[in-house]
Amino acid sequence: MMTQSECRVVVLLSGEGSNLQALLDQAATGTLGGARIVRVISNRADARGLQRARDAGIAATLHPHDDYPERDKYDADLARIIAASRADLVVLAGFLRILGHECVLPYRDRMINIHPSLLPAYRGLHTHRRVLEAREREHGCSVHAVSPELDSGPVIIQSRVPVESDDTEDTLRARVQREEHRILPATVHWFAAGRLLIRDDGIMLDGRVLKQPLVLNQGDRLPD
Ligand code: GRF
Repeated sequence: MMTQSECRVVVLLSGEGSNLQALLDQAATGTLGGARIVRVISNRADARGLQRARDAGIAATLHPHDDYPERDKYDADLARIIAASRADLVVLAGFLRILGHECVLPYRDRMINIHPSLLPAYRGLHTHRRVLEAREREHGCSVHAVSPELDSGPVIIQSRVPVESDDTEDTLRARVQREEHRILPATVHWFAAGRLLIRDDGIMLDGRVLKQPLVLNQGDRLPD
């Protein structure tokens, strides 16, 4: 149970961990409110995010999927690790694995994901490449509550970026990630402050049902 003063956050990742780093940096400067990252879990041993966690003095757990022929069992054990961490909030920050019901359902009111597209457009992988191939003029990122279907669940906040004519996957990714590093910590902060509630019938922010996601443009000031 989340106390007034502290929200225990568990972060799941598979790779670089730049979103984890954004959370750690904001926690270090006191701008993450009562959110405290208590554990980072990766399914991949080579995830740089694991080292980032260790460098910050945070418990880092490798939970490799190769050890599990059965997906259900992997998910059930993952749920056990999260539960043992007494997580008030679970943040999927580049966790490249679809989570099953065993893991999602117990946390459906406290699990969020950062996805590199303006959902519902471009669910799934390789979003930057697909956006460039489709010659879109606009791209972005979304933070959404997690439901058992891939990249679904109500969207909380999005940030839009322009697609430039000379963009490559790398330049576009970098532009999108700068926005990810703003909207994910902001969402964690709101949740930790008790301002954001994820309910079966939708998202509540500051006591109001969020009928539409909050939408920012690149560099816009975040709402207070
Ligand atoms: C991010 O682009 C996020 O949107 C996606 O995976 C990527 C993770 O990046 N889900 P990082 O590991 O946080 O650098």
